[in-house]
Parts: sequence; C-alpha cells; structure tokens
Amino acid sequence: MLSLVSIFLVGLGFSLGVGTQQSESHPSLSWQNCSAKGSCQSVSGSIVLDSNWRWLHDSGTTNCYDGNEWSTDLCPDASTCDKNCYIEGADYSGTYGITSSGAQLKLGFVTKGSYSTNIGSRVYLLRDESHYQLFKLKNHEFTFTVDDSQLPCGLNGALYFVEMAEDGGAKPGAQYGMGYCDAQCPHDMKFITGEANVKDWKPQETDENAGNGHYGACCTEMDIWEANSQATAYTPHICSKTGIYRCEGTECGDNDANQRYNGVCDKDGCDFNSYRLGNKTFWGPGLTVDSNKAMIVVTQFTTSNNQDSGELSEIRRIYVQGGKTIQNSDTNVQGITTTNKITQAFCDETKVTFGDTNDFKAKGGFSGLSKSLESGAVLVLSLWDDHSVNMLWLDSTYPTDSAGKPGADRGPCAITSGDPKDVESQSPNASVTFSDIKFGPIDSTY
Ligand SMILES: *[C@@H]1O[C@H](CO)[C@@H](O)[C@H](O)[C@H]1NC(C)=O
Ligand SMILES: *[C@@H]1O[C@H](CO)[C@@H](O)[C@H](O)[C@H]1NC(C)=O
Ligand SMILES: *[C@@H]1O[C@H](CO)[C@@H](O)[C@H](O)[C@H]1NC(C)=O
Repeated sequence: MLSLVSIFLVGLGFSLGVGTQQSESHPSLSWQNCSAKGSCQSVSGSIVLDSNWRWLHDSGTTNCYDGNEWSTDLCPDASTCDKNCYIEGADYSGTYGITSSGAQLKLGFVTKGSYSTNIGSRVYLLRDESHYQLFKLKNHEFTFTVDDSQLPCGLNGALYFVEMAEDGGAKPGAQYGMGYCDAQCPHDMKFITGEANVKDWKPQETDENAGNGHYGACCTEMDIWEANSQATAYTPHICSKTGIYRCEGTECGDNDANQRYNGVCDKDGCDFNSYRLGNKTFWGPGLTVDSNKAMIVVTQFTTSNNQDSGELSEIRRIYVQGGKTIQNSDTNVQGITTTNKITQAFCDETKVTFGDTNDFKAKGGFSGLSKSLESGAVLVLSLWDDHSVNMLWLDSTYPTDSAGKPGADRGPCAITSGDPKDVESQSPNASVTFSDIKFGPIDSTY
C-alpha cells in the first residue's frame, strides 16, 4: 500500500522529498476560539515556516538552490528538480529568529546562524501537523495583540489571510509550509502547486536571496495588519480565480511588463490607512493609538443580514489600548463620505478621489471577497523588507514626487527610507511580536 502511494506520487512528478538533516518541530502557538463575550476556549495550534525559506539539497548536502539561483545540475527543469531535491526541517530560533511561548510569537528581522544570515520570515498557523487552520471570517471578528515598537520605517510586520489550500496543495504539504499564494501573484516562489518554478528563473537584482520564475502564485488576500511603528493599513485584495492559481504571462499582472491591471488579482487592494485618509495624529508613536506600546487590534467582517451566510458588507476596525476601546479614525478627505470602515462605497470613492484604478471592483470587489471568505482562509504572520519600493507605499509619500496630492501621503517616513540594505544593516534587531489571537462572533473577543 505504502509503495503504491509513492509510485503514484513519483508518477505525477510532484515528489519533493523531505530531508533528514534537521527534524521539523513546529513551535506551538495557542489561540482563543470564542463563542460569546467572556466565553472562549483555548486551542493549541502551532506555526510552520514557509517552504521558500528552507534549505533545499540533493540526497547528500549539495544545494539545489543557493543564494538566488537554482543548481543547473540538480534542477535543469522542474521534474528533474523535484526528483533530485529534498526540503529540510527548520531550526526556528537559531536560523530564522522565530520564537513562540504560550500565546505569543516573535519574529526577528536579521538572524545570523552558523551557516547563513536570514532576513525576515513568513509562517502559517497550523491546526494539526499536516493542515493549516482555516478561518471563516464572515460575520466574525479576528483579534490579536501586536507590538510594533521595534519596527522602523521600511519594515512590515504583517498579519493576513490568504486562500491557500488547507493541506498545502502538494507534497510535503502544510507540514513544510507549502502552497503559499497572495494577490501579488509572487514569482519568487520556488515551488508552485508542487512543481519547482525553475523555468526562466532570474535572480532578483536587488535581493541576494530571491529570484523570479516563469509562474506566479495568485490568490485572494485579506491584509488585516501591515505595519511598522510609523504607519499601518488594512486592505482586502481580491482575485478573479478561486483558491491558488498558478499564473503565467499577462494573467500574472506583472508590473515590469506594464500589465498590473491585466492580471487575475487586484494588486492595489482597497486600503484603510488613517494617515492617508486624512488623520495624521491617530496612529503612531505617542499618538491616539500609541505604537510605542502593544495594542489590541479587532477586525470585524460584518454581513448584510448578520448571518455567517450573508453577503460581506463592511470590514471594521477597533483598537483597545490601556483598557480603552478606541474606534477607528474617521476619514477626513474631501470627496470621501466620512466613514471609519471599509465598504464597497468607501472603496469606490477613494479610488476616484485618489485617482487610482478601481481594480478592486474590477476583480470582484466585496461580492468576490464575500465568496472567497466562505472557503476559509489561512492565517499568515510575517516580517519583511521591500526590495521593490522600500515600503514607501505603506509609510511614506508614494509616488515619491506627489507630496500633498490626494492619497499620496501614507505615513511620516522619508522617501529615502526603507532601503533593505540600510534597514538590514542599521536595524538587524528589529522584531514584531504578535500574541493573544482570538476569533469569534462579532463583539465576542475584546
Ligand atoms: C470554535 O468554536 C465553534 C463554536 O463556537 C466551533 O464550531 C468550532 O469548531 C471551533 N473551532 C475550533 C478550531 O476549535
Ligand atoms: C483624528 O482622530 C482623533 C481620534 O479619533 C480625533 O480626535 C481627531 O479629531 C482626528 N483628527 C482629524 C484631523 O480628523
Ligand atoms: C543587536 O543585538 C545584539 C545581541 O543582543 C547586540 O550585540 C548588537 O549590538 C545589536 N545590534 C544593534 C545594531 O543594535
């Protein structure tokens, strides 16, 4: 029986093996599943590191992938690569700077291990050893505590949901963090739907650890939290395809091919960033919501009929800090009807007022997102720096020559900030700490 199974998998060519140099032991992370206010049950989950960060080698210890290039001997094409290569377990704290304790997870920025220097990480919440935890967000709220005080301009401590497959889609599955996708249709994934992305692989000029392959990994993405100590945004992005979709050519919507709005995903999203929306004193160091200190972040996914099956109508934000409940800031921009939540109408107005393409609506908008959320989404926690545009879209003026224009000012960081080589050398000890994740019906978790 066992051998039949492995023959079958080899036959498909999707047979990336598991190495034995380092056993895979998932750091535990507990969270609370609430049914009503004051009534929550602890769930013992764990986290898993994305496959892209892991050591890939042959049956010995020769690298299949080194720096930002595939081995031409071991990986001349996808199926040879899949046959030759093995993926390793992770030393979470030693190599990747990831530590957890109880209900708290810390992601460190630069970690100098014995063999390599690691930059940032991306992890997923697991339900068990081989399945991601799925969350069905409609008519529910998702709550966590975050400490962004150790994140300078240019970094992004992110917590978000993507429509990945529950089992990771292909061997060796969720246990090794397989199957990532998001609304940027990233080309830097080493494996997509189980197949090595070696075709047309080009090392990224500005990133010694990453490259881009022929295919991209697309799926709907709900950014609950993208932030550093200076700026924050929450942003739905919708794709016209269900689940993970391996794109090729125009449908990837590549920026450098000038096809950003021709792909299957809405790359811009519909963001709510208080600073960008006219309140520069609401969120930040020493401000109404003080990013020098930990805060509780509540995000509610309201439906039109207050049922799980209803149409998604609003995405709301509430903060709790120092025992005080603080409603999200109101927009303060001429042309945008005053609101403190994301709705389809808010998205439509901001796109017009800011002169942005309404790709969010074009790719499905709220009704598309509503459908996507019914399948359940995987929780992602990550810390990253930005080799394309230095995170200026989050925390500075972007486009950089548009200061003062509607929608251009997103945060107080300088347009010269956020260059990865600067932040990596100047702030290696940066980190983000997420804790006390709670999920439940509206108003049950805070
Ligand atoms: C969370 O609680 C709900 C009932 O409120 C239950 O249906 C669901 O299975 C629970 N989820 C987990 C992961 O424990
Ligand atoms: C920013 O938000 C705070 C808290 O909601 C409010 O008191 C203040 O008036 C707002 N400022 C602007 C410019 O809207
Ligand atoms: C980072 O932390 C290490 C270990 O605690 C310390 O030796 C080093 O000086 C710190 N680096 C910076 C730039 O703060």
